[in-house]
Amino acid sequence: MNESEFNKKIKKAQRTAYQAAFATAIATALLLFSIYYPTFLVFKNNETQLSTVTLDEDRIENGIHVRTGLVDAEGLMTVVNNCTNCHSSKLVTQNRMNAERWNETIKWMQEKQNLWDLGENQKIIVDYLVKNYPPKKVGRRMQLTDIEWYELQD
Ligand code: HEC
Repeated sequence: MNESEFNKKIKKAQRTAYQAAFATAIATALLLFSIYYPTFLVFKNNETQLSTVTLDEDRIENGIHVRTGLVDAEGLMTVVNNCTNCHSSKLVTQNRMNAERWNETIKWMQEKQNLWDLGENQKIIVDYLVKNYPPKKVGRRMQLTDIEWYELQD
């Protein structure tokens, strides 16, 4: 083997080594990539993709707090957090009262049913209830005025 032939062999060996190194680098990159992004080598298929369901406990739809059915308005979460723990929110909304009677009901629950002290939240709750669930107007005629009463005679 003469010198130039030897040099050619060396060059060829060198080239093969470079190619091998390059192939290894690519393979390593692919491997790492598919470890970090496992779906990379998999065909995208909508059917197999897990759908992400949002489980928002306090979701509001059409102005209604879905979990409790309460109207979305100022004070909603205070009512949800204090008034739906022991009984259904229906018990709350079915009872339409004025502020005074709500405060009495709350006091009764505190005395008899272990309801906690509501502190400043009591006003927020009562305001919410009176505003959003006002006492239903009972269909009564207006009070009569300007009547000339007469004395009944025996
Ligand atoms: C610690 C538990 C508890 C909490 C919290 C609670 N309640 Fe009650 N509540 C009761 C119990 C017990 C009753 C009686 C249920 C029954 O009669 O079946 C009751 C009854 C009621 C009634 C019906 C009263 C009646 O005269 O029949 C209303 C209205 C009511 N609650 C509203 C509320 C409101 C508004 C809140 C939030 C401030 C609230 N509750 C929070 C325990 C609770």
